Amino acid sequence: MTAVRQEAISDFSIEQNWQDYTEEEHAIWRHLFQRQQRLLVGRACQEFLDGFGALGLAADGIPDFGRLSEVLDAATGWRLVAVPGLVPDDVFFAYLARRRFPSTCFIRRRDRLDYLQEPDVFHDICGHVPLLINPAFADYIQAYGEGGLKALGLGHLTRLARLYWYTVEFGLIATERGLRIYGSGILSSAGESVYCLDHPRPNRIRFDLRRVMRTCYRIDDFQQTYFVIDNFQQLFDATRPDFAPIYREIAALPDIDPDALISSDQKLEPTPFSSPLGRGQKNGPQFDRGPSLGRKRLEDVRQHHNQ
Ligand SMILES: [Fe+2]
Repeated sequence: MTAVRQEAISDFSIEQNWQDYTEEEHAIWRHLFQRQQRLLVGRACQEFLDGFGALGLAADGIPDFGRLSEVLDAATGWRLVAVPGLVPDDVFFAYLARRRFPSTCFIRRRDRLDYLQEPDVFHDICGHVPLLINPAFADYIQAYGEGGLKALGLGHLTRLARLYWYTVEFGLIATERGLRIYGSGILSSAGESVYCLDHPRPNRIRFDLRRVMRTCYRIDDFQQTYFVIDNFQQLFDATRPDFAPIYREIAALPDIDPDALISSDQKLEPTPFSSPLGRGQKNGPQFDRGPSLGRKRLEDVRQHHNQ
């Protein structure tokens, strides 16, 4: 399609040019959509599934951002902005603070279905957008954008980026039926949707803001630690206080490795899923390893490729 080759203007926005998607690109969407739709029932949190239905996301093909924006706007005042790929942090935060979600337009290639280095339209739309219909989560993302603009000025972006990574991208939520997924990086990954709930290896720890801000993460593999919230209001409440004193407080403390546990951690047990498409089934996804599909900061990607 031609949209990705357009010259982005200063805010990095481009036209989606929906009419230019090829049949092959829509077919890749259909493949990813149908696979993930089967997996997510019983794994994704109910709020995500509700948003999924309300948006009318379907297996037909890549959706038109204009149509999705109308539905979102009517529900929570959010709209989508098409961008060519990762955008600088200040641009990203400014969009979120204005209830604008920057979404990529391109879709991964058929030979790269599970090994994507950067978020694509499937990750952004099927992973992120459904929860923007939930009022508490919609408020959280806006507050996060406002917090990001402040963190840039304070020089603490690394710590704030960890909050986004471990909540928006790779968060789990506790429900009466067990742990469920709300993180977009997981929801758009067939392998990690299974791994995060079923595999005995990763840590699942109760959400603690300071703990999250101190925890490093990997962008080249499934996560080694997931943080579990009780509800979305908890996330919004966590972003209400001024982070400046918290940044100063944890600046004196060491970072925590992605797989490490500390004495104050409240660890939760996995809740193995008994779906016929779950672990060990012939036609279901196995614990294939691949890069994490979350939104990576440009700086993280550059560092990773320079290693
Ligand atoms: Fe993302």
